[in-house]
Amino acid sequence: MNETIQKNLKYKKYVVDSNLQYFKPHSTKIEKTFADEISFSLNRNSKFINPKYFYDKKGSELFEKICSLPEYYLTRTEIDILKNLHSNLSEYLDDSFRLVELGSGSSVKTRLILDVLGEIQNKIEYFPIDISEILTESSELLQRDYDDLHITGIIDTYEGGLEFIEKYDDKKNLIIFLGSSFGNFTTDEGKIFLQKINSIMKKEDLFLIGLDLVKEKKILENAYNDSQGITAKFNLNVLSRINDELDADFILNNFKHVAKYNEKEQRIEMYLQSLVHQSVIISKANLSLKLKQGELIHTEHSHKYTIPQIQELMKITGFEIKQKWLDIHKHYSLTLASKK
Ligand code: TRP
Repeated sequence: MNETIQKNLKYKKYVVDSNLQYFKPHSTKIEKTFADEISFSLNRNSKFINPKYFYDKKGSELFEKICSLPEYYLTRTEIDILKNLHSNLSEYLDDSFRLVELGSGSSVKTRLILDVLGEIQNKIEYFPIDISEILTESSELLQRDYDDLHITGIIDTYEGGLEFIEKYDDKKNLIIFLGSSFGNFTTDEGKIFLQKINSIMKKEDLFLIGLDLVKEKKILENAYNDSQGITAKFNLNVLSRINDELDADFILNNFKHVAKYNEKEQRIEMYLQSLVHQSVIISKANLSLKLKQGELIHTEHSHKYTIPQIQELMKITGFEIKQKWLDIHKHYSLTLASKK
């Protein structure tokens, strides 16, 4: 990338070694602080906590555990599909594709795609996009195992990272968005996000998205109510984080993790339910919170789709589906698409 573009984009480049570099915006847009957001989202009738706050160190560790729970079929199933689509996916690729990942994986999934590329390329280029500095750790883990892997990490929002990619150069991109993370957007946000991806794609680029499918209610609810209580810990951990970072006095035992499937909206709805009538002080958010017994604080949605809905969604956001892959139980889907 030439210096002018780099300057216009306002990114600073950090070179770790010849195979590893990062770009980070000089200054990010003035984002609301954690305290501001919490004082807004808990100081209203229908209370919520933005799910991005789940992922502090402890939360990220708990989420890793969720991914290998017996009830949480999503990760396992996605990995199985990825293992099987191998030769099929490589039909669409050649040695000029680079891998762009929304979210930074060091995990099995990223590796499976890197392995597909590795069979057709001598030198693999990988561009993870993640808002968190965790990107540097996951990149270093990957580097240990791949000799000819060139990583350019972009520490920014997905939107910022996508614009960066668009302006960077003219190489072909395989953009991947796995783990059913798309399901955590609202319907409207999701459409806007897919349009954004589509708008930065070139005709030759490809997009691979992992989406969870509508299925029996029991299977869905069990995936978010595991018997070891790890999901409950993960959900409740956001209250510990508020205690630690915003000087609050939430008593975790006064709350219960609730995850229910809403059939009409086709989504798992996650809440923290107040078990008693209580007040909580959140000092740094200047908030004295009153909660009724039974009151719900919304924390996350996880949308599930049918195949026709996925087809429709991709179509209206400007994509042409190249291929889709499912597991034998039709629990989960991977869809490969290009720009129409
Ligand atoms: N993307 C994941 C999903 O929707 C996130 C997730 C899994 C999650 N388990 C959770 C979020 C529990 C909050 C609470 O499946």
